[in-house]
Amino acid sequence: MRLLPLFAGVLSLATSYTPLCATAVASAEQRAAEMLSRMTLEEKIGQLYLQHDSAEEALIRSGACGALLNLTDAETADRLQRVAVEESRLGIPLFLGRDVIHGYRTAFPIPLALACSWDEEISYKAAAVGASEAAVVGYNWTYSPMVDISRDARWGRIAESFGEDPLLASRLGAAMVRGYQTPQEGLPVGMAACVKHFAGYGASEGGRDYNSTLIPPRELRDIYLPPYKAAVDAGVLTVMTAFNDLDGVPSSGNRWLLTELLREEWGFDGMVVSDWKSMDEMINHGFCADEREVALRSAKAGLDMEMVGHCYINHIASLIEEGALDMATIDERVMYVLKAKYAMGLFEHPYRTKGRESVILSKEHKNAALEAACRSAVLLKNENDILPLSKGVKVAVIGPLADAPHEQIGTWCFDARDEDSVTPLVALREMLGEDNVLYAPGVSYSRDSSRDGFAAALEAARNSDAVLFFVGEESMLSGEAHSLSDIHLPGAQEELVRAVAKEGKPLVLVLMTGRPVIITDIEAEAEAILAAFHQGTMAGPALAKLLFGEVSPSGRLPVSWPVEIGQIPIYYNHKNTGRPAKPDDFVPLDKLPLAQKQSSLGFTSSYMDLQPQPAYCFGYGLSYGNFEYSDLELNTDKMRMDGAIEVSATIRNTGRREAIETVQLYVRDLVGEVTRPVRELKDYKQIALKPGESCRVSFTLLPEQLAFTGIDMERKVEPGMFKLWIAPNAQSGLEGSFELLP
Ligand code: BGC
Repeated sequence: MRLLPLFAGVLSLATSYTPLCATAVASAEQRAAEMLSRMTLEEKIGQLYLQHDSAEEALIRSGACGALLNLTDAETADRLQRVAVEESRLGIPLFLGRDVIHGYRTAFPIPLALACSWDEEISYKAAAVGASEAAVVGYNWTYSPMVDISRDARWGRIAESFGEDPLLASRLGAAMVRGYQTPQEGLPVGMAACVKHFAGYGASEGGRDYNSTLIPPRELRDIYLPPYKAAVDAGVLTVMTAFNDLDGVPSSGNRWLLTELLREEWGFDGMVVSDWKSMDEMINHGFCADEREVALRSAKAGLDMEMVGHCYINHIASLIEEGALDMATIDERVMYVLKAKYAMGLFEHPYRTKGRESVILSKEHKNAALEAACRSAVLLKNENDILPLSKGVKVAVIGPLADAPHEQIGTWCFDARDEDSVTPLVALREMLGEDNVLYAPGVSYSRDSSRDGFAAALEAARNSDAVLFFVGEESMLSGEAHSLSDIHLPGAQEELVRAVAKEGKPLVLVLMTGRPVIITDIEAEAEAILAAFHQGTMAGPALAKLLFGEVSPSGRLPVSWPVEIGQIPIYYNHKNTGRPAKPDDFVPLDKLPLAQKQSSLGFTSSYMDLQPQPAYCFGYGLSYGNFEYSDLELNTDKMRMDGAIEVSATIRNTGRREAIETVQLYVRDLVGEVTRPVRELKDYKQIALKPGESCRVSFTLLPEQLAFTGIDMERKVEPGMFKLWIAPNAQSGLEGSFELLP
């Protein structure tokens, strides 16, 4: 057995870097206070302004701007930073921000795909590589990680999320924070990270971006807030507020969220920035009458820096003059900005890392992106072990994503270039030789509804030994403001899949999408299905390696994959309800006899016409190995409040290939003072086993891991009976039980 880097790596990542360590904070605090004492009101207001449009030297020289966003070239960044540091009265360096979400020039898989790796080391590297490339341009601040929990594949930004589970999103988000903020050559902090969007943005109603969120307070604490908290605990330097209103209060004016929870309860000492004009938008929300009131509400709520809007710069001075705002409130806002700049060493290291341009798209970075792509594909189906294919075969390569360099990069990657992408077609030709690859895309882009290319695709299929069909979505079909009400494959893709399947050749579907898409109507046509999502620059080589067995797929779903859109929101950690649905509690409507009485159906919490379970559940994923779980053992079936339980099981690879298994620990609290989820992920470990090899995987479960928000909104651990599972996914596994003693 080989323990994956996860084991060694994560520990070292967890302990090697603490940006806001006690002494750094103390000295940042002192230095910021000293700086503050020398500042005019105008200079203070300037520090609260993140500017996008006109980066003028005069403005920066006067100290009227503390941060810039999206400068695109190194020379400008360097020049403006020098103006701030060398020509402004106080020499306060600028935050230079950029969205480096899944890589900079070397694009990594989209965050949803990274999450499929369940591997903190992979997220850490994606962030660290992105930071080192972006630092070359001069960026010192990025707006990532996004840790918004999402249960709705219609929401375009699910692509940017780590999925539906709080533990998984917490671990991967915290690892990204460490990755961005880890020291890079010459810089004590690669980039300041910014956890976003605080809070609950992923619950936008109906999956429509920017929509209101209605999250019950207990659900907020148990499901939505933990990943932001984990980022704070990992030392994230900045937090971004969300666009949405949360139970009626927009985040950018939510004092409970930004001050009581974030600062007073969690002890966050970094800086809070708004999202793009999210302060102004409180007027549209109907929460503020005008920009003046916006400035007042946000300043009092605890929002430090305004992104792009002008509410602070236009109104703070007059609000102070009128006595509506006191100087202490503004001083507090400015202190957080200055402290973050001091804490990350920006005063000592304001300039870009010159001379390090060679890191961009370096071999090491491409290899890291390749590894991430290999680890992030999820094998959903593999009938008769049709995969991996053997290299002697002639393949038909079909589908609009087979050779779409731009689309495979995925959403939110401003700086990756199409010409750097290696597509599946290119990689397969290289691996198999030109003659063994018959390429006919069938449709030319994902939304293409023309059938003109069908005949050529069918002919390629006919002349091949196997069909590799790269279906998917263009990158612009997911991401911010790109929600969809229909998440089937667009255009004529489904029709083409059906037509090609009729040729009778083994058919492998590779899904290159920004979200889980509905594939129910074409699933049976394919022997194998690999969910790859948008994998970035190195998608092609990764997919070639996976399809031809150089690497075994090991990804696991971080979200429940719906059968139909009508199931959404769908998530594994739901409540049981008073009438839990059973898997077969549905009747296809055409089988429903006429003149039925009301009592003839099951009276359970299900749809009449659709199974309650997802197509593929959270945690699911196959590999080229075959893992059997046996011999569950608990060292005791009674846990004391100050004790722990050791639970272990034997995992054996009975398959014919080495593969990685993600062993998951789930718990169910059977009776609670409030209803509890049917399963909750509590831990997981990854192991690599050779054929025939087995190992015992054990977990230590502590009472604290059983805590939840009780009836009085206090976090508590309640005695009683629990079930647990050591499982390959959220719907199966070895079951045990224990009692937590009072
Ligand atoms: C997005 C943020 C992003 C910001 C800056 C906003 O529209 O919601 O996630 O960081 O723009 O580009």
